[in-house]
Amino acid sequence: MRKAMVFAILSTFAILLLLPFGCGETSDDKIIIGLSFAEFDIERWPREKDKMQELAEAAGAEVIWASADKDAKRQNDQIENMVTKGADVIIIVAYDGASCVSAVEQAAKDGVACIAYDRLIPTDKLAAYITFDNVEVGRQQALGVLAVKKKGRFVLLGGSPTDNNATLVRMGQMKALQQYIDSGDIEIVADQWVEGWSQEKAVGIIENILTKQQNKIDAIVSSNDGTALGAIQALEAQKLAGVVPLSGQDATAPACKAVVEGKLTVTVFKDINLLSPMAVDMAMELAKGEKLTGLTDRSLAELTGKNDLKGSVPCNFLPVVQVTKDNLYDVVIKSGFQKWEEVYKDIPEGDRPPKI
Ligand code: GAL
Repeated sequence: MRKAMVFAILSTFAILLLLPFGCGETSDDKIIIGLSFAEFDIERWPREKDKMQELAEAAGAEVIWASADKDAKRQNDQIENMVTKGADVIIIVAYDGASCVSAVEQAAKDGVACIAYDRLIPTDKLAAYITFDNVEVGRQQALGVLAVKKKGRFVLLGGSPTDNNATLVRMGQMKALQQYIDSGDIEIVADQWVEGWSQEKAVGIIENILTKQQNKIDAIVSSNDGTALGAIQALEAQKLAGVVPLSGQDATAPACKAVVEGKLTVTVFKDINLLSPMAVDMAMELAKGEKLTGLTDRSLAELTGKNDLKGSVPCNFLPVVQVTKDNLYDVVIKSGFQKWEEVYKDIPEGDRPPKI
């Protein structure tokens, strides 16, 4: 009798123990989403990592993430590692898009879908490429500078040569600038690219340009906020900050402060609070084997300007907003994108709008 009872208890216990590994919910069933970042130096990336992790976990997925610290090989190893760890989908911000192709193609072969996040990875094995309208970013940067100066000696400061966005942004800048260059009103006196979008490197580049041009420059069309802040540092040393119109992108807190102070003419707001949820929704759909909707196929040749690249990628490009002194408060502060305290820190009382 006692033996039978013990047996009954034990077998019930065994069934309970085994249950999670039977049909229905098993730990193996949990969706795993990998987040692979190029680096965390730039304000937006850690923000987007936190946001995507929060959303994916809320949707019931497990998240594994890594930052490659601006090292292309390390990023490929990290992606490979995520595949080994059982990731169902990997969302990738590539440091070096071209180098990342091999990791994405291998992941695809292993049945793991990859989403290129913000930056293109030039392969048609991507499940999706979601980003902002990067050409429009560049056009708005140049238009912002042209609103102040339409003539003179201009400097072009491009983004990272390993990031296709830098190319797209430049295409947009040229769309706005070309007619003035053709008419001879604008002369491009220097044209450089900044490895890794590094603020520090931008300081040195602009210092050298200023020396070479004997400070005779009229505007700088720079491609993001970090490099623009580097340019401001170099301009400040020559008492030219606020005199030379300058552009950026991302609407980071220090860049917005520089806009308020009149040192940065224009930045471009890209609402990452739209991009991150889109990536997570897509990742969940892909993990469940659902078909993605709302994407438009674009050829790799069109996306990169390289005609030898074959194939196409399903894409979604989100709109962007030009930000100047005039609309910063409405676009960046009222929307909650940046904190009033950070943007108006040390700004004289009379020059501050009401606190939110
Ligand atoms: C680009 C991105 C920009 C900027 C830059 C530096 O790819 O589109 O928003 O932040 O990288 O990370």
